[in-house]
Amino acid sequence: MPATELDEPVRTALAEVAAFNRSRDDALAIPEEAGAFMHALILASGATRGLELGTSYGYSGLWIASALHRNGGRLVTIERESRKSEIAGRHFERAGLSECIDRRIGAIADALSGLSGPFDFVFVDADKEASLDYVRRFRPKLAARAVIVTDNILHPPHFNWPEYLAVLRNDANLFSTLVPVGNGMELTIVR
Ligand SMILES: C[S@@+](CC[C@H](N)C(=O)[O-])C[C@H]1O[C@@H](n2cnc3c(N)ncnc32)[C@H](O)[C@@H]1O
Repeated sequence: MPATELDEPVRTALAEVAAFNRSRDDALAIPEEAGAFMHALILASGATRGLELGTSYGYSGLWIASALHRNGGRLVTIERESRKSEIAGRHFERAGLSECIDRRIGAIADALSGLSGPFDFVFVDADKEASLDYVRRFRPKLAARAVIVTDNILHPPHFNWPEYLAVLRNDANLFSTLVPVGNGMELTIVR
């Protein structure tokens, strides 16, 4: 990602979150190349209505929201730990992106029922065993040509992925394929 693509406040906030995340073991953030990949994907697709499952301290949210903002859009991001969400909120503010990020605190299943959509970009990065349930919940709220990215397909290994991937890849209304960036991201497009 050329440095000129990101505004200076976003670059600064990303560096600060990365440093903060390195000082702890509960951030579980995506690596930089995965963030740059989603950022590029959003710019290329023109997505404006984003949804993130699993905010943590806001690292992936910064990559996603900065691209949505470029497209004139906004991000809804969900996290059950209020402490994490509040720290993420400070990072979003530092990046100048607070106005276009709606932080929801609570369980994803509950938060999803309160969201009407439509969404044209969704990042799935929370409790892996519930990922399929989440897809089923947000699927009716997806716009045509929506893009779903699911993290950690290659690492760490998770027992649930074969079923998850089979559902996505065998659905005639979806196109889904693995992109070996970061820890392995499944890229799914609504046809
Ligand atoms: C892998 S981390 C997210 C990392 C973040 N996307 C990033 O790259 O910076 C997963 C986050 O999801 C949150 N989480 C897990 N299960 C959840 C649930 N059922 N409802 C809401 N948040 C949940 C965890 O607290 C954790 O912060």
